Amino acid sequence: MLRAEALEKRFGAEAVLNNVSFSLGEEETIAVVGPSGCGKTTLLYMLCGLSAPSAGQVLLDGKPVNGPRSDISIILQDYGLLPWKTVLDNVALGLKVQGVGRRKRLQRAEAVLDELGIAAKAGDYPGTLSGGQQQRVAIARAFVTRPRLMLLDEPFSSLDAMTREKMQGIMLNVWSRRRVPSVLVTHSLEEAVTLGRKILVLGGSPATPVACFDNPGFGDPDLKTTDAGFAMLRDIRKTLEERW
Ligand SMILES: Nc1ncnc2c1ncn2[C@@H]1O[C@H](COP(=O)(O)OP(=O)(O)O)[C@@H](O)[C@H]1O
Ligand SMILES: [Mg+2]
Repeated sequence: MLRAEALEKRFGAEAVLNNVSFSLGEEETIAVVGPSGCGKTTLLYMLCGLSAPSAGQVLLDGKPVNGPRSDISIILQDYGLLPWKTVLDNVALGLKVQGVGRRKRLQRAEAVLDELGIAAKAGDYPGTLSGGQQQRVAIARAFVTRPRLMLLDEPFSSLDAMTREKMQGIMLNVWSRRRVPSVLVTHSLEEAVTLGRKILVLGGSPATPVACFDNPGFGDPDLKTTDAGFAMLRDIRKTLEERW
């Protein structure tokens, strides 16, 4: 459903990404790992049409992505919630853009907040919530529009280890019910192995894919403690060590 074809990105004289190609199928997720500053956020921006590639193209359902669109949800690193709106209004906002009526908006926003176990905070303001709670609201807001494609930029990186594991479980839960094709950028290999059906490793400068792992066991929060999970982690680490 999503194809990145030979994507390249330059900022002036600086080449950041080179020859990035991959595909994402229905009901699939792909985790993108790579060192800080290698161009992961830049890649997500190109995938959703917020930034134009210097070469190559992004195809969604066979059609080029040439600009921002309402059927792609992106979850940014800092959650991006509006502090002056309540949790419920923050979540309902995306539906307004889609032209959904007010009553339906609030109903759907409430339902997805409930799904994420945070309905009790609907009337509160984001500033009064913990990091983990804000992250749940951001995920609710991303799913409520029933997007065709979901992009996540290191969504759990600022959370403590316990909250992070819990959020991964919550994310898997929502995802397994909705099965929205997703691209997840992370610097945690464990997170990539838990959440990525495929794992794309970026390396080099400019960064380019150095490996893409098939990870059929993804979606099991305990995978990283099994033999298959260990083997996958070991293979990814080996690739990283060889390339960096
Ligand atoms: N708008 C921009 N203008 C110039 N350089 C940029 C811009 N956005 C990102 N960069 C550069 O591109 C590189 C990759 O950045 P980024 O995609 O944020 O990396 P990552 O998300 O992997 O940490 C960095 O060197 C950064 O300075
Ligand atoms: Mg980034």
